[in-house]
Amino acid sequence: MGNYGQIDCAVAPQATMKSDMTTVALDDSKALRRAFGRFGTGVTVITTQSDDGPLGMTANSFSSVSLEPPLVLWSAALRSKRHDVFVKAEHFCIHILGEDQQDLANHFATQGHDFDICDWAQGPGGAPQLAGCLAAFHCRAHAVHPAGDHSVILGEVIQAAECPGQGAGLLFDKGRFGRFSPKP
Ligand SMILES: Cc1cc2nc3c(=O)[nH]c(=O)nc-3n(C[C@H](O)[C@H](O)[C@H](O)COP(=O)(O)O)c2cc1C
Repeated sequence: MGNYGQIDCAVAPQATMKSDMTTVALDDSKALRRAFGRFGTGVTVITTQSDDGPLGMTANSFSSVSLEPPLVLWSAALRSKRHDVFVKAEHFCIHILGEDQQDLANHFATQGHDFDICDWAQGPGGAPQLAGCLAAFHCRAHAVHPAGDHSVILGEVIQAAECPGQGAGLLFDKGRFGRFSPKP
């Protein structure tokens, strides 16, 4: 027999771990959603052009992925009426909302086709760019990955814009909107 060496294990046995956490049953989707919701995020509105005109959707699943090439992702729920349009879209635009844009977030969470709520203009590829947001990323569809009850949509950023100044983002934590307060 050869000498396969020794593997050091730094993981403490679960039984002896002291914790004031409550176990979340993975088949309890309400509890699991609540636990996932402990991860505070920013808030985006994602827009695209559809056969029925411009379409928008509020999403907090956005994440930047890569600088070279510039890639971002977000995930769309299969159950959303807007899912299929976004999955098939060749272009979309991701807007980072500022702390004063909760109304916009609520608007595009409840419906998708009414763009009278703000000024907008068509960007490269046709996706609407909304005025007054902290940043906007125009994307070309890069990949779509099926992921359980969501589709993960990756976009390659083809044009980016940022609002000048120190404006802070709208935040979402435990199902509530809020704002960032920096530590002194
Ligand atoms: C803060 C916030 C974040 C959301 N994030 C997502 C998301 O990342 N993905 C998603 O599919 N829906 C997300 N939603 C839900 C959609 O905005 C929208 O409410 C949902 O698609 C409504 O279903 P419908 O498209 O069938 O009308 C979010 C809603 C809110 C208020």
